[in-house]
Amino acid sequence: MTTYTAFPDVQIIILLFSWVGLFIVANSAADNFYDDVDLTWGDHRAQILDEGKSLSLTLDKASGSGFRSKREYLFGRIDMEIKFVAGDSAGTVTAYYLSSEGPYHDEIDFEFLGNSSGEPYIVHTNVYAQGNGNREQKFYLWFDPTKNFHTYSIIWNLQSIIFLVDNIPVREYNNEEAIGVPFPSKQPMRVYSSLWNADQWATRGGLVKTNWSCAPFTAYYRNFNANACVASCTDCSSKMSAQGLEANGRRLLRWVQKYYMIYNYCTDLKRFPNGRPRECRRSRFM
Ligand SMILES: *[C@@H]1O[C@H](CO)[C@@H](O)[C@H](O)[C@H]1NC(C)=O
Repeated sequence: MTTYTAFPDVQIIILLFSWVGLFIVANSAADNFYDDVDLTWGDHRAQILDEGKSLSLTLDKASGSGFRSKREYLFGRIDMEIKFVAGDSAGTVTAYYLSSEGPYHDEIDFEFLGNSSGEPYIVHTNVYAQGNGNREQKFYLWFDPTKNFHTYSIIWNLQSIIFLVDNIPVREYNNEEAIGVPFPSKQPMRVYSSLWNADQWATRGGLVKTNWSCAPFTAYYRNFNANACVASCTDCSSKMSAQGLEANGRRLLRWVQKYYMIYNYCTDLKRFPNGRPRECRRSRFM
């Protein structure tokens, strides 16, 4: 007993050392792009950098580029830090989304629409269930997404899908299967991202074209983290049934929707002259 108390520092140092060691192992396993993704198109335009700690996608006149996760997920939380194309990014779109395969696919979308230098990006969100989308909400951001990395997240469970920016919920899409609205609940999805030219529609509805003299355009990624159920896992129950937003999350969501939302399909009466989609009648926050 005296020997233990005689060397308390040593014990603490050993404890600290082993804890730090574990942390490093867990962390490097969690965010190495070599382990987590495949570069799927654009040849050399998609690159894993920095020993797997970061990744870049570029777009030039000949092609864009993209990657997708090696694993498929069914429920959970997916985070990625992204720094978007800087300067004159008009006409470019960086898509970051989850998608299953096949004709009746499910999809949870973030799309980031570039703009002329100094003008704001638009964040476009959508949810597809069994092949049907048409559930757009669009936002401005409260910061310049090209200056620094920011975290873009999707929390997906049986109750809802929550889109977050720097941990602030910008959209909550509830599961209304009980009233017959399809919800992505059965098909595992991969994470995808791509950078491409969409100057027919992206910036000011297609009025501003891509300025190719600024090419190549580049977006950067780091800290991919999937606290999600890999499709083959056996115990998914905690990720499936996780709760929706708490009071504070709800307050933040209201703040974003009040000051930064620029389009909501639920309030687009021209588009749905015969009545709003069913899921919209329940909630203001779809
Ligand atoms: C680009 O800037 C214009 C002018 O500020 C703005 O109307 C538009 O919503 C911005 N974003 C996109 C993607 O067009």
